[in-house]
Amino acid sequence: MTSPSDLAALGLREGAPGCGLVIDGKLVSQSVLAEVAQKAASLGLRPGLAVVLVGEDPASQVYVKSKGKAAESCGFHSVQHTLPVTTSQADLIALVEALNADPAINGILVQLPLPKHIDSTLVLETISPAKDVDGFHPVNAGLLAIGDTTRALVPCTPAGSLILVERAAKALGIDLAGREAVVVGRSNIVGKPMAQLLLSRSCTVTIAHSRTHDLKEVVGRAEILVAAVGRPEMIPGDWVRKGAIVIDVGINRVSGEGLDSQGRPKTRLVGDVAYAEAATRAAAITPVPGGVGPMTIAMLMSNTLAAAIRAR
Ligand code: GUN
Repeated sequence: MTSPSDLAALGLREGAPGCGLVIDGKLVSQSVLAEVAQKAASLGLRPGLAVVLVGEDPASQVYVKSKGKAAESCGFHSVQHTLPVTTSQADLIALVEALNADPAINGILVQLPLPKHIDSTLVLETISPAKDVDGFHPVNAGLLAIGDTTRALVPCTPAGSLILVERAAKALGIDLAGREAVVVGRSNIVGKPMAQLLLSRSCTVTIAHSRTHDLKEVVGRAEILVAAVGRPEMIPGDWVRKGAIVIDVGINRVSGEGLDSQGRPKTRLVGDVAYAEAATRAAAITPVPGGVGPMTIAMLMSNTLAAAIRAR
């Protein structure tokens, strides 16, 4: 049995009575950020991250601000380019090309979604693969697909989720090799790269999706379950296999009870997995919020440092 202090060192804690361990993404992300900052300093590197925001989407503004803050907390050179919603595709591409050529910039992130008149694929494919810290460029997707995880820049959410899986496996004293892993969701940003990462750890991987027959049976096989569908609590807790490691990537806002201080209906965040019952069956589970969410930004910093190291 792992002691509470050993658990905390791995970023886990005891759950409620009768429940599995809670994987604390906030704690793990803090340790990743501290490691990144320390490694950059010890190498004498000041990685540069450029974040590009087009338009005034409030959620994107919040994300972009936290990315800049995290970069500064790691001692990085951080720049933000905020462009009006009317920016032309040609102007955005010209900016990306200028950032590709700028030696002070190691990582470029163009915040999505982009306005409708801009072809996102074209913009993302203009980013130099070596600076593609989102890991969305086909070159990086291809490197991950052929298992070249030393050269690929891996999308941040699945990369962070894998760290959580590994920390939980360590705390539980289990080896990932040969384990049944099920990823629910087949997006290019989370589901597919997550499956590749679990395969790189020698799991037996199934990707399930909206067309999967008997999803309950497939989910019930999972010793490692990653849910990334973006549908509130679509996986009932009683589908979860006893002793599973459950990583819930979903962050869904649903209506809560009562009114907030300004008289508006309250909302709350839930995952893709019905947490309360799943926690009674899982050996370890991520909460929402406070699970995968904080890991995404930490991995962005990790990718930016990796890109800076390779540039040197
Ligand atoms: N919008 C929401 N999440 C992300 C992300 O991880 N990367 C980018 N570029 N845009 C996003």
